[in-house]
Amino acid sequence: MSESTTIVIFGASGDLTHRKLIPSLYDLYRKDRLPDTWRILGVARSDYSDDSFREYLETGVKEFAKDTYTAKRWREFAKGISYFRGDITSLESIKDLDKFIGEWETDGDGNRIYYLSVAPNLYEKTIANLGAAHMVNEDRGWRRVVIEKPFGHDLASARQLNQAVHHVLAESQVYRIDHYLGKETVQNLLVFRFANSLYEPVWNRNYIDHVQITAAETVDVGHRAHFYDGVGVMRDMMQNHVMQLLSLVATEPPSSFEAEAIRNEKAKVFSAIRPIRPQDVAKSTVRGQYRTYRDAEGVAPGSTTPTYAALRFFVDNWRWQGVPFYMRSGKALAAKVTEITIFFKRPPHVMFPMPANSKPAPNRLSICIQPDEGIHFSFQAKVPDTTAEMRNVEMAFHYDESFGTQSIPEAYERLLLDVIKGDASLFTRSDAIDLSWQLIDPILEGWNSNFAPPLNFYESGTWGPEEAKELIAHDGYSWVHGCSHEEDN
Ligand SMILES: NC(=O)c1ccc[n+]([C@@H]2O[C@H](COP(=O)([O-])OP(=O)(O)OC[C@H]3O[C@@H](n4cnc5c(N)ncnc54)[C@H](OP(=O)(O)O)[C@@H]3O)[C@@H](O)[C@H]2O)c1
Repeated sequence: MSESTTIVIFGASGDLTHRKLIPSLYDLYRKDRLPDTWRILGVARSDYSDDSFREYLETGVKEFAKDTYTAKRWREFAKGISYFRGDITSLESIKDLDKFIGEWETDGDGNRIYYLSVAPNLYEKTIANLGAAHMVNEDRGWRRVVIEKPFGHDLASARQLNQAVHHVLAESQVYRIDHYLGKETVQNLLVFRFANSLYEPVWNRNYIDHVQITAAETVDVGHRAHFYDGVGVMRDMMQNHVMQLLSLVATEPPSSFEAEAIRNEKAKVFSAIRPIRPQDVAKSTVRGQYRTYRDAEGVAPGSTTPTYAALRFFVDNWRWQGVPFYMRSGKALAAKVTEITIFFKRPPHVMFPMPANSKPAPNRLSICIQPDEGIHFSFQAKVPDTTAEMRNVEMAFHYDESFGTQSIPEAYERLLLDVIKGDASLFTRSDAIDLSWQLIDPILEGWNSNFAPPLNFYESGTWGPEEAKELIAHDGYSWVHGCSHEEDN
């Protein structure tokens, strides 16, 4: 069978293709990681020739792969890119596309990736058309379909989409992308936990007091207001990125590094998380909206779409019983930062003299996902030239210091390479999607009911509503920035 591979990008005139997909494919080409025979075919309705399409893409590579762009390498790479003008909602158009691709493939043999970089409301129709045009049969080469986030709007729509997907495709052909999982720092979490024998014995309820996960953005909704309104932070960030981070912190060691082994363990974590019932949302969740959100063009008057959420989950299994996981995410916050901080329990007995009513700070391990990429461990040390005064000090690992500034590839680069290689470890399986919606749906339901906590307004550039501090203060904690050491304001 031929090893030629065609990467078909639906929605190729759009933002994601321009900013992420083509710059990442360019870098894969530069590193000689594309298959021996490859071609990239952009599909959209806009009127481009091959040349004008390449020119448009080149501007993206110049901007988003600027450290590696050279005109010479781009020209070599661009020879493999072409454009097909078509409407993916039209079966005729999809059949024409099939013929077009077939002309390039030798004797009808060739592998294909179909990347759905289009609005989510086009996923079902596109997949159905690919099925109806027999374009996903694998008798003449493999067929893989990449589906962008968001996957569903709630549990019912995610199930409907999964059904539509499975009607046409085997699960092994489906690659549901959550680009957070392509980040080196996120992948390193598994290596850190399971390739070092030091941490695993203490990675449980006996030693861990609580866990905080923060995924904060400084940007507001900007020109995406129309898309964002009615979606909100729970669907945009919590259901996918933040829940994925939680699953990696909480997972049991998989028996192997095979995709199914890892995905099985992650699914077990989601099934062990105690759902927050609609009637309990006021106790375990906080929702907020930055004060100027409703002024953005595209936001419905009086919109109650939350741009901030803080939650407390418990994972009901032997490892994690009783350990709270606090998660927060929002827009227009004080800093762009994604981090996970694990708080260990304080020593059971302190023999050192300490000021009245004070305790040594707990050991804290922070996994810094962005923008600081690394790991910080903070612990107590004796202040020199004192009898026994203690202070928190830190050991830190930073990717750029240890591996050089070029060491971290764009998440999409890694994920696209995995699709080419057929490694689905970093992609979300249908059951995990379903299970995570089962946790998010009751919260959204509660927020739409009489049980809803108030929608708290916060100033842009702060750390969100005061009530989020109260949620965690109620349990005796406060939010920390283990990577940047900023203070919540
Ligand atoms: N942009 C990001 O950073 C980002 C991040 C995470 C996830 N995503 C997801 O990725 C997907 C794409 O996002 P995007 O930001 O690139 O969207 P976008 O800028 O709106 O691009 C989508 C493209 O789809 C094309 N299109 C629409 N209807 C079509 C049809 N009937 N047939 C063929 N092409 C059609 C449009 O081009 P024509 O008008 O030329 O047809 C448009 O350029 C979305 O699902 C989004 O949620 C995006």
